[in-house]
Amino acid sequence: MILSKFVDELPILPILKPTWKDPLLTYYEVNMTEFKQSLHNELNDTTVWGYEGSFPGPTIEVESGERVFIKWINNLPDKHLLPIDYTVHGAHNDVPQVRTVVHVHGASVEPDSDGYPDAWFTNGFSLVGPKFKKEVYQYDNNQRSVTQWYHDHTIGITRLNVYAGLAGFYLIRDQRERLLNLPSGKYDIPLMIQDRSFHKDGSLYYPNQPPKPIKGLETSIIPEFFGKTILVNGKVWPYLKVEPRKYRFRLLNGSNTRFYRIKLDSGQLIYQIGTDSGLMEYPIGIHEILLAPAERADVIINFTNLEGKNIIMTNDAPAPFPDADPANVVSIIMQFSVSLPLTNIDTSVIPQYMEPIQKLQEQSASKIRYLTLNDNMDQYGREFMLLDNKQWDYPITENPKLGSTEIWYLINLTTDTHPIHIHLIDFQILDRRPFDVDKYNKGGVIHYTGPAMPPAPQERGEKDTVRANPKQVTRIIMKFGPYTGLYVWHCHILEHEDYEMMRPYMVIR
Ligand code: C2O
Ligand code: CU
Ligand code: CU
Repeated sequence: MILSKFVDELPILPILKPTWKDPLLTYYEVNMTEFKQSLHNELNDTTVWGYEGSFPGPTIEVESGERVFIKWINNLPDKHLLPIDYTVHGAHNDVPQVRTVVHVHGASVEPDSDGYPDAWFTNGFSLVGPKFKKEVYQYDNNQRSVTQWYHDHTIGITRLNVYAGLAGFYLIRDQRERLLNLPSGKYDIPLMIQDRSFHKDGSLYYPNQPPKPIKGLETSIIPEFFGKTILVNGKVWPYLKVEPRKYRFRLLNGSNTRFYRIKLDSGQLIYQIGTDSGLMEYPIGIHEILLAPAERADVIINFTNLEGKNIIMTNDAPAPFPDADPANVVSIIMQFSVSLPLTNIDTSVIPQYMEPIQKLQEQSASKIRYLTLNDNMDQYGREFMLLDNKQWDYPITENPKLGSTEIWYLINLTTDTHPIHIHLIDFQILDRRPFDVDKYNKGGVIHYTGPAMPPAPQERGEKDTVRANPKQVTRIIMKFGPYTGLYVWHCHILEHEDYEMMRPYMVIR
């Protein structure tokens, strides 16, 4: 079944209304339910999971410093939509199939509100995971303006819960950003880019076996997933009618495994103004943007003088990344049709300068950690990935001190690029440097084979997810705080995260 392109209009995600708001606090209730939604005009309605009846969920918009409380409520049925692998840690037969816990990706938040994978809860909170602490989460939003997103984070089934639809945007705004006069209001549009496959009847397809089936297992986790279509804000290959003026788009890769290398077929420049964790110092004009799962790019696209043109946003990222199987590449994302009249003169700007970014100094680091990304084999002969050669269950080894700065060397011994995400903090990328993997495997020593490469201009800002490329050591620097307690770090390829490429870490006093 081949779906036509650009037949559905891009959905503009609704902004979530608070249940309660006063000068001291804002309170939201967010229900997770199962419902049917049209994902493409030629497809029967698809059963999905979403927040407040919407896939992706409604956008939560808050002000920097606003005290926000959210009760995430599981109103889902007892049976999962997608194939659960009961051999995966945390998803054995001794727990209910349908469990949820919500993490705001990028949030600086106290540990009990961070959505720890073992803090899951079921419909009506009737059963909860071993690390469950509270029903109402607290977000202090002590951050500058930024594009974050919320998504499910349940141990062993994150890939399935997110694939079913549990993800949405969470934006923090601030005065400084407003003063920059960026395109705003209806000209500021978040775009969640995801890949999905469908059965003929319109239902979501997710494989229950890898290409080489596992003997004796009815359902097995797969090492990677690539959908055959690309959705933006919940529609397959949509179009957006735009005015001939500037727009701000917050690009988010919300896919399980797929990377995107985004270009415009008009060849025009995209002006990137922000990274994962907020605005950059100054905009950069670029022709392509690479986004691994969970990475964001805040961009401005200028459609001025392009009346009547159709501009396609394309993708040519290898899948898997970087060693592609060309059959997996899906090259179209969406289309912009410059067909609306200009309603007002466009007075928004692409600023010369935006915000200072304090560069963290290497000398300020009190601890250096060397952490490998490894391939391994499980008892069924399935390949799986580890961080520092340790499984999720192994006791905590990363325990940074509150307020201390650390440098982490991510030593990638595998053949994939892994998007490594650390909860609670933002980091800066120091550099990436090629090394000899064979020598490392034999002697445990890093032999560099070339010079260190600085991060790409697109990555020069605050980040919370970094691409750790194969045969490279990626160095990141960060300061831990302002909270202490239990968090996680992991690969954001959800099929990896669910199967052991995740570790707990603890910020200590
Ligand atoms: Cu976007 Cu630990 O997650
Ligand atoms: Cu996160
Ligand atoms: Cu990975």
